Amino acid sequence: MIDQKIIETLNNYTELDNYLIKNCVPKIFLVCGHSINHLTLGKYFDNMKSRIDIEVIKFSDFQPNPSYDSIVNGVNKFIESQANTIIAVGGGSAIDVAKCIKIYSNMDHSKNYLQQKIVPNSIHLIAIPTTAGTGSEATRYAVIYYNGEKQSISDFSCIPSLVMLDPTVLKTLPLFQKKATMLDALCHSLESFWSVNSTAESLKSSEAALRIILSNISDYLNNSDTGNANMMRASYIAGKAINITQTTAGHAMCYKLTKMYDIPHGYAAALVNTELWPWMIANSERCCDKRGSKHLLGCFEKISEIFNTSSPCDAAKLFQNIVNSLNMPVISAKTEADIDILQASVNPVRLKNNPIKLETDDISYIYKRILKITDRN
Ligand SMILES: [Fe+2]
Repeated sequence: MIDQKIIETLNNYTELDNYLIKNCVPKIFLVCGHSINHLTLGKYFDNMKSRIDIEVIKFSDFQPNPSYDSIVNGVNKFIESQANTIIAVGGGSAIDVAKCIKIYSNMDHSKNYLQQKIVPNSIHLIAIPTTAGTGSEATRYAVIYYNGEKQSISDFSCIPSLVMLDPTVLKTLPLFQKKATMLDALCHSLESFWSVNSTAESLKSSEAALRIILSNISDYLNNSDTGNANMMRASYIAGKAINITQTTAGHAMCYKLTKMYDIPHGYAAALVNTELWPWMIANSERCCDKRGSKHLLGCFEKISEIFNTSSPCDAAKLFQNIVNSLNMPVISAKTEADIDILQASVNPVRLKNNPIKLETDDISYIYKRILKITDRN
């Protein structure tokens, strides 16, 4: 397991300068979205050469939900640059692109990277998240799209060795994005909690993240410095939790919703969990976690205690109320065929982390609830 170094700062990057100087970094390959230009961080990298004599080669040629082709382009640019350090500044997409560039850069460039074995390399990877939600800075996962289809990449060698958390970057983040990314962190904490892969360590992280998120929602949405700092820390801790457990059905079922209804990832995951969670409480006797249904019920009880509610059902209801209170766009199915498309899209491997096995009918039922389709017969 990689031991990550964390720098927590407020708009002051002297510690990062010192780290780069100490590690004799001559050149940086900077993977970032265009939003960096509106941040102090943008200026920080712009004058790095004159300030501490480190050359910066910028790569921004990718979109949210990055395509495999844009990553191949990034790998070529990175090799051309002859840099040995990658810094990712951005949300999940920028960090995921940087992870893939790192792991693909020592592969056979004449073959498809997705079909090759990952061999760890010594390229430095540093992550500076500009949203509080994906937790990608703490995980071994990256999500990219090959011919439009989602691909999950997972390898311990792509966990950034240094993470810099600077909550001042959240000050100018649009409210809609703040809401959606917060929901992502909230879903990571919840799903990690009930995942069949949970450990004492992951449960500690899930609980810590959940407590911080729940007590900072309004401060964070009101853009207070404390609220932003706490949410950024919570997102990172939730990332550490899913790095151990992976996500569950909430995430496995959300990807196609994002694509079909053009809604943000975190909101799509929250929509699934608003229906999945009460369904799991009602079906807890079907628990497939090897620790048994008693363990799962214990998790639900513990989450209820953290939510400060009197029962697991009330906690799930409160979660639903939190999601509703954010006034995100309401989605509805165009036709009943949507349910079949959604149901067929779910990756069964990802469902294996869920504590209750979902059959095809269960998946359809949950999608119908999300899309407010009622069975007529
Ligand atoms: Fe997520």
